[in-house]
Amino acid sequence: MTINILFRGPQERNDCWQALFADALPDVAWHHWPKITDKAAIELMIVWKLPRDYQQDYPNLKAIFSVGAGVDQLDLATVPEHIQVIRMLDPGIAKGMSEFIAMHVLNIHRDTFAYINANKSATWQQIPTIENQQRRVGIFGLGHLGQVAAESLLQLGFSVNGWSRSAKKISNVNCFHSDDRLHTFLSQSDILVCLLPLTDQTRGILNHETLSQLPKGASVINVGRGEQLVAQDLLALLDEQHLEYAVLDVFDIEPLPEAHSFWQHPRVLVTPHIAAITQNDSAGKMLVENVQRYLDQQPMRGIVDRSLGY
Ligand code: GLV
Repeated sequence: MTINILFRGPQERNDCWQALFADALPDVAWHHWPKITDKAAIELMIVWKLPRDYQQDYPNLKAIFSVGAGVDQLDLATVPEHIQVIRMLDPGIAKGMSEFIAMHVLNIHRDTFAYINANKSATWQQIPTIENQQRRVGIFGLGHLGQVAAESLLQLGFSVNGWSRSAKKISNVNCFHSDDRLHTFLSQSDILVCLLPLTDQTRGILNHETLSQLPKGASVINVGRGEQLVAQDLLALLDEQHLEYAVLDVFDIEPLPEAHSFWQHPRVLVTPHIAAITQNDSAGKMLVENVQRYLDQQPMRGIVDRSLGY
């Protein structure tokens, strides 16, 4: 049975995924947006952002696959209930994310940012170090990416705490869940790593009230979404010396405007949303596997729970 898939994204990725599908599932008819002759034939769509009026234009759409780990850009409230939404569980994203987190936890732990600043004034000053197990890293959001990151931090010898909405059990991770335990989790996180999905509950969650519950001298890494962070609250806590460093990869406006105070702040590192990039090869294989599951009428991997928003 032929199944029609529409991909909306760059040519290079299109060519890679089209070839993978041609090889593994020759019955797939692949289309690269916007070149589509019969929109009514499209059953599956692989996108970052949805085309305008897709509900009317693609009446037989059954599933939407996000090319990224996040699905907040799809505006789930507007997606009809009968259409499944699937987030990308690319092992390449997980590897990139855990690498980025481990790198910056180590940078904070070993005072790299202080040495970069000291270099600017040729200042030779040694900062005392502490043992890795004395540094408590708090992973805010223990989904797939949070669990992979926790594993790599444990391998580096850090103490790892984690917080999630519902209860999780992960070996060697001190797991907290629910709003009741949020204060305890925050008060024990020397480095807070935000990996939460963006939902109505997490918008603005990194604010003065929560960030001031971190221990004095704590640092923050935000690899979730920019809308989760209240920028002025973070800046105030950095300037009051309550917080030490912030590594920010995501912003409510991207690219981050040139005039934003984050760029010039001596204890903030801005990176341009590169913590974890979807890898064409591994993500393409994941898509092939999921489409095979769809064809076999098996549950796909990464189905979004619409009531939770992730
Ligand atoms: C990127 O932020 C993604 O959602 O993969």
